[in-house]
Amino acid sequence: MSIAIYPGSFDPLTKGHLDIITRASKIFDELIVLVSVNTSKKVMFSLEERKQMIVESVSHLANVRVEAFDGLLVDFVKTRKGAVIVKGLRALLDFEDEFRMALINRHLCADAETVFLTTSVEYAHISSSLVKEVFFFGGDISGMVPEPILNWCKKKGGK
Ligand code: PNS
Repeated sequence: MSIAIYPGSFDPLTKGHLDIITRASKIFDELIVLVSVNTSKKVMFSLEERKQMIVESVSHLANVRVEAFDGLLVDFVKTRKGAVIVKGLRALLDFEDEFRMALINRHLCADAETVFLTTSVEYAHISSSLVKEVFFFGGDISGMVPEPILNWCKKKGGK
């Protein structure tokens, strides 16, 4: 059985993330969306809130599970034998960071392989940081995030 782990901060999950999840769920038998900590990012939602928001957004995908993990990605990967890491690549801008993360993960754990899916072009401009900024200033983010995420953002409130 093929298992993939899709890690990210997902603060919040965007339609671009959901597109990667949907496509990866067709390639692998089981997909674990892993809400993780990126120490260089200031977050709007807690780890548990982000997990719950994603659970609501992927409930239609039978082979997708959501977990939250406050630790090194490779330590989680080691607990799922044979699992590969899935990442989405938006543009050249993502490449350098993603390339370095893939190498660091393999440095820490020789078996940690990363597979990249290229973004669908309609989502190439969407990022969680821009979604947060647009929302903060009262802009319309309904085309950028799945419906459950929009509701969570509205509950949290903007500026
Ligand atoms: O969505 P992001 O912020 O680009 O995702 C980055 C993330 C959360 C996957 C990365 O920061 C991560 O793997 N965090 C867990 C801690 C870790 O293992 N760090 C070293 C590997 S780069």
